[in-house]
This record gives sequence, C-alpha cells and structure tokens, in this order.
Amino acid sequence: MKLKLYKEGKVFFFASQGELNSSAPVFYNPKMKQNRDFTILVGAWLRKEKKKGINYLEPLSASGVRGLRFAKEIEASKVIISDKKKTAYQVMQTNIKINELESKVTPFNLKAITLMEILKEMMFWFDLVDIDPFGSPIYFVEAASAILKRRGVLAVTATDLATLQGVKPETCFRRYGVMPYRTDYSKELGLRVLISSVILRVSPSEIFLEPILSFAGKHYYRIFFQEVKGFNYKRWGYNLYCKSCLWRGTTSIEESHYHKCPNCGGNIKVIGPLWLGPLVSCNLIEKLKEMLRNFRYIEDRENQKLLSLLSQECSAPPFYFDLHSFSSRIRVSPPNIEETMLRVKELGYSAYRTHFSSTAIKSNIGAKDLTELLRRRN
Ligand SMILES: C[S@@+](CC[C@H](N)C(=O)[O-])C[C@H]1O[C@@H](n2cnc3c(N)ncnc32)[C@H](O)[C@@H]1O
Ligand SMILES: [Zn+2]
Repeated sequence: MKLKLYKEGKVFFFASQGELNSSAPVFYNPKMKQNRDFTILVGAWLRKEKKKGINYLEPLSASGVRGLRFAKEIEASKVIISDKKKTAYQVMQTNIKINELESKVTPFNLKAITLMEILKEMMFWFDLVDIDPFGSPIYFVEAASAILKRRGVLAVTATDLATLQGVKPETCFRRYGVMPYRTDYSKELGLRVLISSVILRVSPSEIFLEPILSFAGKHYYRIFFQEVKGFNYKRWGYNLYCKSCLWRGTTSIEESHYHKCPNCGGNIKVIGPLWLGPLVSCNLIEKLKEMLRNFRYIEDRENQKLLSLLSQECSAPPFYFDLHSFSSRIRVSPPNIEETMLRVKELGYSAYRTHFSSTAIKSNIGAKDLTELLRRRN
C-alpha cells in the first residue's frame, strides 16, 4: 500500500497517493477540499449557535481527514469517524495519533449503517452527521437522520451527477423516486431532485428536514439539511417545462393541471414532486461569510466566490436561464451577461448571477419576454 503524507486545513495525515477510485486502500481527493472547508464553516456556525461543544459523525471517512479537521479546527468538538475498509481504519488510527487527537476522535471499523444503528441503540445523538460516499448518499440518509439532535444538521455529498441531471432517467427514478428530464437548467434540477428525495426518504419516520445550504461543486452536489418541526407542503410542487419554446413554470402539489404550454401550445413535461423552496438560507450565508473571516487559512478566492454568489442568488426564484444555451436554442448570438441583467431589470424583473453557471442568470422573467429581449438585441 503506497501512502503519502498530506496537509489540509490544520491537519497532517496519510492517505493513498493518486488513486482516485473506490479501490484505493485509503481514498483521498484533494479536489474535495472546498467540500470539507464547508463542513468546517457550518460546524463553526453550529458551535457558535449552540454555545457548547458539538458532536460530529463521519461514518464513511477513509483517511479520516474530514473528522480530524473538524476535531482540530472546531473548538470543543467530539468526533466519531469510521470506514468499513480495514486499511482505512488502520491509517485513520495513525492519523489520529500524529495530530494528537486521541481525546477528541474515536475511530471504528464498521459498516456505516451498522455503526449508526448501534449509536441509535446507545442513544448517542449528533449535531452534525456527514455522509460522503462514492456516488449516492441516499442509502444512508434514513439511518443518519435518526441520530440527529433537535435542529441537528445532516450533510450529504453526491457524485452521481449524470443520474441526477437526467442523463440516466430510469436510474434516477429507481434511486431517487423522481423521473428527471434534460432541461437547460439541469444542474439546478438535479440538486432539487436530490434534496426532494432525501426529505421524502426520511419524512415517513416523522423526521423533517429542510436545506439550509446547498450547491453544485465541480463534480459533486453538497447539501446541508437542518431538522425542522414539520413538513412544509407549500414549498413542494412540480416543475413544468416546454422543450419547444423553453417556457418553464411551477405548480403546487395539489394543482398540476397544465397539459399545454401557455406560451406556444406545445406539450409540457411535468417533473416532480420537487422541493421548490430556497436552496440556501440567506441568513446562514451572511453568517458563514463572517465566519470565513475567522478562518483565514481557508479564506481563499474559491470559497469567497462561492459564498458571494450564494448570497446574491439566495432569494432568487427557482430554475436559472443559461444565456448561452438559451440564446443558441433561439438562434441568436450569446449576449453579455451584465448587460442582459440590466435590460431584464429595466423591464421590472429581478436578475441575479448564480453559482450554477458563469453564463446563467436567475430571474422572474418568463421565457417569452427573455426571448424577445434577446432577439431585439440582435
Ligand atoms: C468518498 S470516500 C470518503 C472520503 C472522505 N469522506 C474524505 O472527505 O476524504 C468513501 C469511503 O466510504 C467507504 N465505504 C463505502 N461503503 C461503506 C459502508 N457501507 N460503510 C462504511 N464505509 C464505507 C469507502 O471504503 C471509502 O473509504
Ligand atoms: Zn412552449
């Protein structure tokens, strides 16, 4: 087994070198640093809110880097890390020692569900449970949500983006219970499919979750859910999409009466049921921006940029317009983003940039008015 010593955040640790697949004895992907940085930011926010030490569980932890960072970087935290692979378990034991974290971090060599069920039997509750598997987190979310404290946070990472974004619709339906569709805003649709599926997977156990922070990274989706008191039906519905004229709309879950596109009369695709509520809490994003200033060593351009974009789009309506793909579909040349946003605002609509794509905007403008606006320019 070829191991390398790495440094990330405030910890040093051993992990496999250059093997970025599930057969790596001790998996580590440096490109997921931003994903882990956000665990730290949310952990620091939770710690501040709760005003006492917090418990963190990462049941699929490989080298343990995420949990070790949590223990080192978040004051007064207790951490459990575990991996079903013996090699990973052995290396995480070494990694705990070299960071002198024996009093804060406990490692296990168990399957994730087994561990979470044991912890539940022992009535051990967590402020934050972080699920970071290969591919889909959906299999783990029931067991993970059952050991959350009240107002606790469940974080998930998914890397099966092709499935969630509708490239493999049948797999998506089988795995997530929603039949997706290829739209010109599939990155957002995929994220909403995952959010919806996680919420509906745990709600039969009377555990209610809502997203407080979610985003699309380069190769993954990341969602932080918080446990809430009840199920908010008003934030659910269907996405309606006309592939002929790119019209899009939404309906509530009770009234999905659309059959024809109100714009061109074409057939409408009904996609859902979907979470149509906010993808992030504006309030939380402002707090994380403040928090980032206390964590100078992760205050890099990438993290600043993501938080700034999430803050701009936090109250925007669902489903962005990618101006490049939209203009190519209506056969006009791609417009300048800033200029288009100004013109959209001049018509009385909102316009925001979005982290989903550097060529996209979020707006309450309809596809018809946007088409006219872009055609007038040409
Ligand atoms: C993507 S890696 C985790 C990376 C780690 N979270 C990080 O930030 O570096 C997924 C890990 O889950 C482990 N794993 C896969 N299925 C598991 C299961 N059912 N129970 C526990 N561990 C599992 C794999 O051995 C692998 O080490
Ligand atoms: Zn239409």
